[in-house]
Amino acid sequence: MNAVPQPEAAPLRLAPMTEAWLDAVAALEKQAYTHPWSRGNFTDSVVAGYHACVLLQGQALRGYYVLMKGLDEAHLLNITVDPGHQGQGLARLMLDDLAGWSARQGAQWLWLEVRTSNARARRMYERYGFKEVGVRRNYYPLSAFKREDAVVMSLPLSAGAAA
Ligand SMILES: CC(C)(COP(=O)(O)OP(=O)(O)OC[C@H]1O[C@@H](n2cnc3c(N)ncnc32)[C@H](O)[C@@H]1OP(=O)(O)O)[C@@H](O)C(=O)NCCC(=O)NCCS
Repeated sequence: MNAVPQPEAAPLRLAPMTEAWLDAVAALEKQAYTHPWSRGNFTDSVVAGYHACVLLQGQALRGYYVLMKGLDEAHLLNITVDPGHQGQGLARLMLDDLAGWSARQGAQWLWLEVRTSNARARRMYERYGFKEVGVRRNYYPLSAFKREDAVVMSLPLSAGAAA
């Protein structure tokens, strides 16, 4: 039997996170986290002028990131991939994009916090070259009575990252 030709997947592209995307972003956020950001958190980030992008395939939202630029550093506040499309290199693609953007803005370091229990994300950051540089005690809410530590990670941005 001949194989049925499959339609090619639309190419991936990154675009600015505009107001029009915020409902879809907030919906995906709820699927991806036990303690999601609210829609208002994303609105505030966009209004504050943070560098925020959506990762699109055709008109479908596959992921997004939010980055805050400091003087000589950039702070990654959120990076999320659609649970149905994880493990396909999409986070790495966004890390390449945001690291390149940060380097072109003159940042020398990328910083982030990650829950100690988020083994998958920690492993991803380590594989990308981030190093653990500290711990913020009780940084994240965990339950009504408990909080969870954050691991602080950083990555030096070489000139190569700007390519
Ligand atoms: C963490 C997250 C962003 C990773 O996204 P992703 O697109 O699946 O990651 P990638 O496919 O780009 O893989 C990057 C690395 O993650 C790790 N990884 C990917 N899939 C994995 C899996 N199924 N199991 C364990 N590790 C995995 C690998 O180390 C991989 O590196 P490699 O390609 O060199 O092997 C995604 O799981 C996610 O959105 N999680 C929920 C939100 C979250 O925790 N965000 C981070 C907050 S700090």
